[in-house]
Amino acid sequence: MSKKYRVGILGATGMVGQRFIELLVDHPQFTVTAVAASDRSQGKSFGEACTWRLSGEMPEAVRALPVQPPAPPLDCDLVFSSLPGEIARETEGSFAAAGYPVISNSSAFRMDEDVPLLIPEINHQHIELLRRQEAKYPKGGYIVTNPNCSTIMIALALAPLHAAFGVEACVATTLQALSGAGYPGVASLDIIDNVLPFIGGEEEKIEAETVKILGRFSESRIEPAPMAVSAQCHRVNVSDGHMAAMRLKFARKPSLDDLRDALMSFRSLPQELTLHSAPDKPIVIRDEETRPQPKLDRNAGNGMTVTIGRIKPDSVLDYRLVALSHNTIRGAAGAAILNAELLVSLGHL
Ligand SMILES: NC(=O)c1ccc[n+]([C@@H]2O[C@H](COP(=O)([O-])OP(=O)(O)OC[C@H]3O[C@@H](n4cnc5c(N)ncnc54)[C@H](OP(=O)(O)O)[C@@H]3O)[C@@H](O)[C@H]2O)c1
Repeated sequence: MSKKYRVGILGATGMVGQRFIELLVDHPQFTVTAVAASDRSQGKSFGEACTWRLSGEMPEAVRALPVQPPAPPLDCDLVFSSLPGEIARETEGSFAAAGYPVISNSSAFRMDEDVPLLIPEINHQHIELLRRQEAKYPKGGYIVTNPNCSTIMIALALAPLHAAFGVEACVATTLQALSGAGYPGVASLDIIDNVLPFIGGEEEKIEAETVKILGRFSESRIEPAPMAVSAQCHRVNVSDGHMAAMRLKFARKPSLDDLRDALMSFRSLPQELTLHSAPDKPIVIRDEETRPQPKLDRNAGNGMTVTIGRIKPDSVLDYRLVALSHNTIRGAAGAAILNAELLVSLGHL
């Protein structure tokens, strides 16, 4: 039987933290041995501190774990972080300095030059950046991040198209679920019968992160992809599942059939390695006029598949499509766990 790694979860009581726990409960390679959250929760058992907000019961295995401060040492081999961005920088840095691999879902380190912003299907070569962290963290710790929840699906939709035809420009309009704002998130009276056309920092994150993810690793740095990305983000009254309406301009405009083939046939290293959380198909296409929809498509591939529909020629740019994925699974906890599985498989854990 393969080694089981002991993991700590920072921000374990939050929306993403609870997803981590749900996805790790029967995981073949990881077992949750430590949980950390704010001083509101510290000193209580996880069962006392956490109001379980996912369907089903809180897993028995974590109920009795004591909630600790998010500071080393913790009884684990690596940490998954789902801390708020404001505190993640200092906290995640202190874990890396203490020798822990930090697999982070927070925004704090995503754009640092020496930190991989990893989507295993797209840019596993960026793991080479970890060499640049060796001097900074001499005890062997490091930081790997996953992108913003909308960026992940946008980048997955773009990756096979950019590789085959060169995407010159992408204009993305997102419709983002409420769970993306954490708990308690957006006040109910602000979102019932409403759409909010502002999510702080989100448009900038999508625009900056996408070109880093799709960038090329060259001589120990990432050259951002030469692509214009424009994003407008909206919060909508949906529980889970982010959507992006995308318009694309190509360097070499493909036929509609070639564009569909590139999306449908997309497979990469996680599928070759049959990583536990890797979906068989990172992308599926739905041809019905009314798909994708959050309620019907967010759980495709156990929440790890991006569903794409409405693929059509566009009258301003070359093509348009609509992408959808589960924001707390492919967009957060599932993404970080897939990153950790890749790091195990490549010998970094
Ligand atoms: N929700 C998503 O779809 C999504 C997707 C991608 C990335 N993210 C990122 O993931 C992170 C967590 O998001 P979330 O939606 O899970 O937020 P959340 O529901 O508000 O949970 C925040 C977590 O952080 C803990 N925390 C808050 N302040 C703290 C402090 N000062 N010290 C220690 N722990 C503290 C909370 O503990 P208490 O319960 O004790 O307060 C809770 O466990 C954020 O950086 C977010 O941007 C979220």
